[in-house]
Order: sequence, then C-alpha cells, then structure tokens
Amino acid sequence: MADISTRKSPDRSVEARLPPGKPRSEDWLRTRRETSSNGPLLALLFLGSFAASMIGQTRLTATPVREADAICAKCHQEIFLTYLGTPMANASGLATERLVAGNFLHAQSGTEYRVFLEGNAAWLNFRKPSDPDINGRERLNYFLGSGHLGLTYLYSKNGYLLESPIAYYSDAKTYDMKPGLGKIEHMPGALPINSTCLRCHMSAVQHPDSGTENRYQGPAFLHVGITCESCHGDTHEHVLTNGIKAVVNPVKLDSERRDSICIVCHLEGATSVEHRDRSVIDFKPGEDISDYISYFANASEKATQRGVSEIEQFTSSKCKQVTGERMSCMSCHDPHRSPALDERAAFYRGKCLACHTQPKYATTHYSSNPDCISCHMPKTGAKNIPHVAWTDHRIRQHPDRDDSGATVLSTGMDMTPMLPGSSARDLALAYYNLAVNGVTSERPRATALLAATAQSSTGDEEVLRALGILSEWNGDSARSEQFYRAVLALDPNSLTATTNLGTLLAKSGDLQGAAALWRPAFARNEDILGLGQNLATLECLLGDKGRSSEALRRVLIYSPDMPEIRNKLRGVETGSQECPPTVSHH
Ligand code: HEC
Ligand code: HEC
Ligand code: HEC
Ligand code: HEC
Ligand code: HEC
Ligand code: HEC
Ligand code: HEC
Repeated sequence: MADISTRKSPDRSVEARLPPGKPRSEDWLRTRRETSSNGPLLALLFLGSFAASMIGQTRLTATPVREADAICAKCHQEIFLTYLGTPMANASGLATERLVAGNFLHAQSGTEYRVFLEGNAAWLNFRKPSDPDINGRERLNYFLGSGHLGLTYLYSKNGYLLESPIAYYSDAKTYDMKPGLGKIEHMPGALPINSTCLRCHMSAVQHPDSGTENRYQGPAFLHVGITCESCHGDTHEHVLTNGIKAVVNPVKLDSERRDSICIVCHLEGATSVEHRDRSVIDFKPGEDISDYISYFANASEKATQRGVSEIEQFTSSKCKQVTGERMSCMSCHDPHRSPALDERAAFYRGKCLACHTQPKYATTHYSSNPDCISCHMPKTGAKNIPHVAWTDHRIRQHPDRDDSGATVLSTGMDMTPMLPGSSARDLALAYYNLAVNGVTSERPRATALLAATAQSSTGDEEVLRALGILSEWNGDSARSEQFYRAVLALDPNSLTATTNLGTLLAKSGDLQGAAALWRPAFARNEDILGLGQNLATLECLLGDKGRSSEALRRVLIYSPDMPEIRNKLRGVETGSQECPPTVSHH
C-alpha cells in the first residue's frame, strides 16, 4: 500500500505548475478556498460582467478587452485606444491571437511538441516517436502573459482548466519546458491551473466548482486581459445613464481604497492569507483590500527577490515616505498608457520633476543624462523572471551602493503584517504557509499558533485543514483524522480533506471508508493524478478490477504518458496484477 500517497497541502505537483521562473509556487496555491459558487451557467454569466450580459449571448469563450469594453470607446475613445496597447490589456487573450508557432523537442523525455494554428484553432501537438501510443493534441484556448517575458497557454479538457507543459520564452525566442519539468523523463502529467493565477491575469474571474481546484461548469473568467471594470468597478449604470451615474475613479477614493486597486494584483508579500470566509477573487474596486487578505513581509527576506513587489519597494522609498498619501502609483504611471520606448526617459523625468521642483534637477543635476530613472530606478538583473520586480522601485540615491536587507530566505523568521486588519489567525496561517513552503523549523510555531486560533474561534475551515496537515506531519494520525472530519463537516467536498482522510483510513485498513471519500472526489477531479492513482490502487485492494482499470484509464485521458500508471493498467488488464493483490491479502 506504499503507493497510496497523501495530498500535501495544497497540492503535491506544485513545482509542475509554475510559470516560467516563478520563485515560490506554493504561495499561489495555498489560500484557495474550496467552497465556491456552483450555480447554473446563466447565473454565472450575469454575475460580474456588464458587457457579456449586454450582448446577451451565452458565451463560453471569454472576450478580449477590445470587445468587452468596446462600449466605453463611444465616449472615452482616446483612453480606450491607448489602453488597448498596454501590457495590462494584453495580460492574457485568445490563444489564436498571439500564437507563437513553433516546435520543441524535449530530449529528456523524447517528446516532440508542436504549437500551430489550423483553421480557426490553436493546437498543441505532442508525440513520442519511440512510443506510438503517445500521440495527441490539445486545443489551446488562451494565452497568459503579455509576452515581453514570455507566455504560457491554457486549455480546457472536460471542464478542467489546464496549463500547457511548455512555455514560450521571449528572451531565448524559443519554447521550453516550464521550470521544474525539464528533467522529467516522460511527458509531464496534467497541470491544473489554479484560480489564483487567473485573478491577476484575467478579468471577472469565477470560483471553480465546489470541491475542485480547476473545474468550471461555466466560464472560468468572462474576459481576457485586464478590463476597465477591473479598476473602475461595475460600469453598468454608468453606461445606461450615458455617463451621469458615476463609476469608481481610483484617484477620488481615500488612499487605502485607491491603493487597494493596484495592490490586489501588484502585491504578493512573503506570503498572504485570505481572511476567514473571504476570497480575494470577490474584491471589487472601491473596497479596501485589507478587508479581504493579509500580506506579510519577513525581515530576513529581500523584497527585490520575491514576487510582484513594486508596492513593497515603493513603500520603502523616501519619495513615498516623505510625501505620504498624496503619492501613489499614479504619480508616475498612467494606467491607460504605456509610454513608447523612445519617450520613456522624458515621460518619467516629467513625473519626477513634478515633485522635485528645485531648479537644479531640471538644470545642473547630472545634466548630461536626462534619464532620471536610469540612475535612480535601474533595472535589476531579474528581467526574465516573471513576478520579480524588474525596475527598482526603492528610488534610492545610490542604488549601486547599498543593498541593505539583502539576506535571503533562511530559517526562523518573523512575519510582519504589511497592512492593517490582520488577525492572529492570519498570522498563524502565515507561519503555516512558511512551513508548507519548506521552512520546517516553523512547524512548531505554526502548530502552536493555529491550535490557539482553533480554541478561540471554531469552525474555521482553513485553520482546521492546516491543523490536519500539521498533525499528520507531527505523526498524530488520530488528531489529523479529527481535523479532517471537522473540515468535511463544514465542506463535504473539500479536496484536501477527502484526499488526506481517505489516505489515513486506507492505511488503517478501512478501505470502504476511503472508497466512500475518494470515489466522489475523483469524479469531480479526474485530472488530479495522485487522487486517481490512489483510487485505482484502492479499488484493486477491494478486489474490483473493473473499477481499478477505469480509474487508471481516466487518469490517462489527462496525463497520457505516466509510465507507472500505464504499467499498472497493463498489469490489471492482462491479469499480471491481481485484484486484490495476493501479497497484501490472505
Ligand atoms: C455614453 C457615454 C459614456 C460611455 C459609454 C461611458 N462613459 Fe464614462 N463618462 C462619461 C461621462 C459623460 C463622464 C463624465 C465626464 C466628466 O465628468 O468629465 C464619464 C466619466 C467616466 C469616468 C470618471 C469618473 C469620475 O468620477 O471621475 C470613468 C472612470 C469612466 N467614465 C469610465 C467609463 C468606462 C470604464 C466605460 C465603459 C464601460 C464608460 N466610462 C463608458 C460618459 C460615458
Ligand atoms: C498577485 C497577482 C498575480 C498572480 C497571483 C499571478 N501573477 Fe503573473 N504577473 C503578475 C504581474 C503584476 C506581472 C507583471 C510583472 C511584475 O509585476 O513583476 C505578472 C507577470 C507574469 C508573466 C510574465 C508575462 C510577461 O511576459 O510580461 C507570466 C508568464 C505570469 N505572470 C504567469 C503567471 C502564472 C502562471 C500565475 C499562476 C501561478 C501567475 N502569473 C500568478 C501578477 C500576478
Ligand atoms: C489598471 C487600472 C485601470 C484600468 C484597467 C483602467 N483605468 Fe481608467 N483610470 C484608472 C485610474 C487610476 C484613473 C485616475 C487617473 C488619474 O487621474 O491619475 C483612471 C481614470 C479614468 C477616467 C477619468 C479620468 C480621465 O483620465 O479622463 C476615465 C474616463 C477612465 N479612467 C476610463 C477608462 C476606460 C474606458 C478603461 C478601459 C478601456 C479604463 N479606464 C481602464 C485606472 C484604470
Ligand atoms: C486585475 C489585476 C491588475 C490590476 C487591478 C492592476 N494591474 Fe497592473 N498589471 C497586471 C498584470 C497581470 C500586469 C502584467 C501584464 C503582462 O505583462 O503580462 C500588469 C502590468 C502593469 C504595469 C507595467 C506596464 C508596462 O508598461 O510595462 C504597470 C505600470 C501597472 N500594471 C500598473 C498598475 C497600476 C498603477 C494599477 C492600479 C491603478 C494596476 N496596475 C492594477 C495586473 C493588474
Ligand atoms: C509625489 C512626489 C514625488 C515624485 C513624483 C518623485 N519624488 Fe523623489 N522624493 C520626493 C520627496 C518628498 C523626497 C524626499 C525629500 C527630498 O529629497 O526632496 C524624495 C526623495 C528622492 C530621492 C532621495 C532618496 C534618498 O534616499 O535620499 C531621490 C533619489 C528621488 N526622490 C528621486 C526621484 C525620481 C528619480 C523620481 C522620478 C522617477 C521621483 N523622485 C519622483 C517626492 C517625489
Ligand atoms: C517614482 C515613479 C514610480 C512610481 C511611484 C511607481 N512606478 Fe512603477 N515604474 C516606474 C518606472 C520608471 C518603471 C520602468 C518603466 C520602463 O522602463 O518602461 C516602472 C515599471 C513598473 C512595472 C513594470 C515591471 C517592472 O518592474 O519594470 C510595474 C508592474 C510597475 N511599475 C508597477 C507599479 C506600481 C504597482 C506602483 C505603485 C505601487 C508603481 N509602479 C509606482 C516608476 C514608478
Ligand atoms: C547619472 C545619474 C543620475 C541622474 C541621471 C540623475 N541623478 Fe539624481 N542623483 C544621482 C546621484 C549619484 C545622487 C547622490 C547625490 C549626488 O551625488 O549628487 C543623486 C541624488 C538625487 C536626489 C537626492 C537629493 C540630492 O540632490 O542630493 C534627488 C532628489 C535626485 N537625485 C533626483 C533626480 C532627478 C529628479 C533626476 C532627473 C531629473 C535625477 N536625479 C537624475 C545620480 C543621478
């Protein structure tokens, strides 16, 4: 039974789904909620989007910004047109519109990939010349990434949203495996995309189906690219009243609400924790982000080395600290316009001089070089790693000299909340995230803080689930089981709890109990390799050959080249694998 594996929170195949160069993946995964709207298609379609509902069509394909926001052009044409040229408007889109055709041979696994257009569709072909069974194609639906660093593609299979195993790297002008997949000796298994990825790169993002991380009965998001509504909120009434009814204008909000609009997608922190019963996907412009999520910094980690950190860096700048609320991202950026390369120096110089009004800056201060940012906001070396700020937003006098705070992630560290509104419970989960991310020395602190939290506030699913996992790590299966059962009482579909409790039950000999959990969980999550593999093993132990091979066959639909699974299936089908296996029974 050794091959029945536990689902480490939140997922075992974490490395496999990284975007190119993503520094620490679990951060993206950990906070996802497993409760979600599971409403009828119609309700989903009318949820967030004015544009989609106006058109009144049942769309399963998300619309790009130029269509979703076409109505705005009637009255705001210039903004609309310049905005369409920005990286934000192009943060994602229809695969057919930005398909980089190409071939890539992954020598390690002997797999040939080909990305191409055919008719009106974008395709990813894969094939292994050495193995005629491995030969297929996926229809690519969306690209993700505006492409100055690179891009990746998404495809949907039976409602499961998945990522392509190869990504395009702009620097090298070539396709390659996603990080972490290069050394695999077979074609990687399916890469479920996490809804947290979507929320910063798509618009009107929906919750996945209950008990799944990436299955969507309706559309996963209504629009591709960052729409006007992502920053201006619901524009329905505004349009109906020809502009009389107001929409959110970020600069007219108080500074917390103004900054929240950028923070929601431009801050990651060392880690972040969604508040109890809150999902950051539901954040709307005009609200305060600190009502949804807590971000944590940690003193021993360098902000310039972690994800999406312009906000952190900027907050530490003297410009911001002395100016206070009055200064924001908009002091230098026009969200509707990305200045062309040859006008950048002048564009940003103008922004600097708006505050640095002493005559010397416009005249004598290093006058041979009009490009203020080339000295004060240099590019870091990390330019081909997504999510690592590329331009140094600390705005220092001598960026080349001092690099204080340059220590790297080590063991034993204190988490500091970056915004108000963070609770003891969030802090406890922050340490838990650290522990999950491999800082095992933080397990005791995480366990103690979470246990205290569970005492003072009951029925908190995230806390109970974390405690279940920590208890397992600490070797206390009995407590772990209690925690997972408590999670299931709150959310009978919880993927982590069903998977992990099933493992505990199977290991203790309660095969029927495990089957009762895993069968429905796998029916909802056919693309999750470990779960299918566990179930197949279990069905065989239960003596059900048919069910065992059916689970294996299902797994192979999404992950066709898993040697272990193919061998097992062959074994069950040819009878060389008996069910139940003679060794473990009788
Ligand atoms: C029929 C014309 C019309 C359409 C269509 C329209 N607007 Fe407006 N919008 C206006 C008018 C008029 C104003 C007020 C201008 C002013 O006060 O200077 C305005 C103002 C705004 C403002 C500034 C609000 C403020 O309080 O400062 C924003 C933001 C805005 N519109 C966004 C949008 C977006 C996004 C869309 C598309 C979903 C859109 N508008 C569609 C007419 C329109
Ligand atoms: C908190 C918001 C956020 C989340 C979550 C997020 N990203 Fe990003 N991503 C960004 C921002 C902002 C940028 C732009 C660069 C920057 O600020 O460092 C970016 C850049 C990228 C790029 C580079 C695009 C280019 O060519 O410029 C890729 C690829 C990418 N992200 C993929 C992903 C994937 C895959 C996930 C899910 C694992 C993900 N992102 C999750 C905000 C996010
Ligand atoms: C990334 C966030 C963001 C997106 C996306 C965005 N805006 Fe804005 N918009 C802002 C901010 C911030 C301001 C305030 C700018 C300022 O005054 O400095 C603003 C101001 C405006 C204004 C009023 C002030 C003006 O400049 O006339 C209009 C109108 C407007 N936006 C329309 C749009 C339309 C139409 C779209 C989509 C095509 C859009 N915006 C997309 C952030 C955004
Ligand atoms: C819904 C998520 C989202 C929101 C809200 C958002 N951004 Fe972005 N922004 C992104 C993503 C994603 C990218 C990177 C796109 C890419 O390159 O693929 C980006 C890129 C940028 C860039 C780089 C543009 C360039 O020319 O290279 C700037 C500047 C920026 N955002 C500023 C802002 C500001 C200011 C706000 C708040 C008013 C804001 N963003 C709100 C997601 C968002
Ligand atoms: C919203 C106003 C504002 C803007 C815009 C602004 N600054 Fe500043 N900056 C300040 C203030 C205030 C200080 C602190 C007092 C001072 O040194 O003048 C400061 C300080 C600085 C310092 C000294 C930092 C230190 O550690 O001593 C540098 C360098 C600087 N700014 C460069 C820039 C550059 C370059 C730009 C444009 C990219 C810029 N600033 C844009 C307000 C601003
Ligand atoms: C003092 C001016 C200034 C302020 C304030 C500022 N930025 Fe920037 N930002 C820049 C400059 C300059 C660049 C580089 C532009 C270029 O090279 O094209 C940049 C680039 C970016 C990029 C592209 C990725 C990168 O790192 O190069 C993003 C994203 C971004 N800024 C987000 C933000 C956000 C979010 C805020 C508010 C927290 C903000 N910026 C505040 C000056 C500023
Ligand atoms: C060639 C590099 C370079 C350029 C270009 C440059 N600076 Fe500086 N700046 C420096 C250095 C170095 C210092 C540190 C003090 C010094 O040596 O004068 C400095 C200092 C500053 C300071 C801190 C206070 C002071 O004057 O000592 C501010 C503010 C500032 N610069 C703003 C700007 C602005 C605004 C621009 C563009 C108009 C600009 N700088 C262009 C190199 C540069």
